[in-house]
Amino acid sequence: MLSPLHPLVDGRTTDAAFVRALRGERPDRTPVWFMRQAGRSLPEYRAAREGTEMLDACLRPDLAAELTLQPVRRHGVDAAILFSDIVVPVLLAGVDVRIVPGRGPVIDDPIRTASDVLRLRPVDPEAFAPIAEAVGLIVAELGSTPLIAFGGAPYTLASYLVEGGPSKDQLRARSLMYADPHTWAALLNWCADVTGAFIRAQVEAGASAAQLFDSWMGSLSRRDYQRRVAPHSARALSALRGLDVPRIHFGVGSGEMLDLLPGLGVDAVGVDWRIPLDEASARLGGGVPLQGNIDPALLAAPWSVLSAHLEDVLDRGLAAPAHVANLGHGVPPETDPDVLTRVVEFVHARA
Ligand code: CP3
Repeated sequence: MLSPLHPLVDGRTTDAAFVRALRGERPDRTPVWFMRQAGRSLPEYRAAREGTEMLDACLRPDLAAELTLQPVRRHGVDAAILFSDIVVPVLLAGVDVRIVPGRGPVIDDPIRTASDVLRLRPVDPEAFAPIAEAVGLIVAELGSTPLIAFGGAPYTLASYLVEGGPSKDQLRARSLMYADPHTWAALLNWCADVTGAFIRAQVEAGASAAQLFDSWMGSLSRRDYQRRVAPHSARALSALRGLDVPRIHFGVGSGEMLDLLPGLGVDAVGVDWRIPLDEASARLGGGVPLQGNIDPALLAAPWSVLSAHLEDVLDRGLAAPAHVANLGHGVPPETDPDVLTRVVEFVHARA
C-alpha cells in the first residue's frame, strides 16, 4: 500500500491532468512532458553537472533533485521524471558500470555465460536510500505536479550487460537468447528484479506514476518479444504489486508489438514517432491511453513545420481515450530549450 502521506493518497497529485490522462479520463488540457527533459539541452543542467560524473550525480540526492526540477521550472511541463539512469540499479547491485559521455552505459566485463549470470547478486533494498532521499526532496518541491518513477526494461538492460555497451542491433544479446535460453531467462529475471526494485523504491518514496523504458525492443521480432522478453517485463512491473500507481510502457520500435503491451500490466502505452497515434490506437483496440509521439527530429525544424506536426499529433491523439503529449524518444542534447517551452505552450493552448 502507498503511505497515507504519498501525493496520490493525500490528494496532491490525484487530480493532476497527467495522472487523470493515464487513468483514461480526458482532462481539459492535454498534459505534456518530455522523455530526457533533464539534461544537456539545458545550460543550467550543464552548469550544475560540471565536474560530477553522471552516475555520481544520480546518487547525490540534492543534485539529483535539482536536476529533476530544472525542466519543470523552465518549461512548465505537467510531470517531472526522476533524474537518474536505467543502469543505476545495476550499479547498486554491484556491477561495474559507468556512463561514457556521448556513448552511454559501458561494462568492461560483459555478462555472457551461465557462470557470469550466477555471479550477479540481488540488490539490497537499503542501497536505494539515496534515490528515496532524492524523491523526498523533489516531491516536497513539486506540490501538485506528479513525479514519474522509471526503470529500464529487462531486455534493454540485458542488452547493455551482454554487449558491454551500446550496440547497433543487439546481436550478441539476441544470439544468447537462442544459444543458451536458460542463461537468457536467468539474466532477464535478474534484470527484472533489480529494475523492479528500483521503480518500487521511487514509487514508495513519492512518485505518482511509473514508466518502463524498453529502448531496444525494436530489434526483436514479435515472436521473440512475446516468448522470451515480455514475461520478464511483466515480472519487472509486478514489483509494483499492491501500489495503486498508473504504469506506462514505452518502447522504441514497438509498433509491431503494441497490442501485446497492455498485457504486461500497464495503463498507458508510449508510442515512438514511427506510427501515428490513430493507427496505434486502432492496433490497441481503441481503449488504451497513449503517450507520444512527436518526432524528436522536428524539434530542429522551422516552427511552421513543427507546429503543423504538433497539430497532427494532437488531432490523431483524439482517437485514444486520453493522450499525454511527449516526444517519440528522448530530447536530443543539441535541442534549443526555448523550442521545448514553446511546444508546451502550444499543447496547452490547443486544449
Ligand atoms: O530527464 C529524464 O528523462 C530523466 C533522466 C534519464 C536519464 N536517462 C538521464 C541521462 C532517463 C529517464 C534515462 C533513461 C535511459 N538511460 C534510457 C532509456 C531512455 C532512452 O533514452 O532510450 C537509456 C537507454 C539510458 C542509457 C543511457 N544513459 C544512454 C544511452 C545515455 C546517453 C549517453 C550520451 O552521453 O549521449 C545515458 C546518459 C544519460 N542519462 C545522460 C542523462 C542526462 C547524459 C549524461 C551527460 O550529461 O553526460
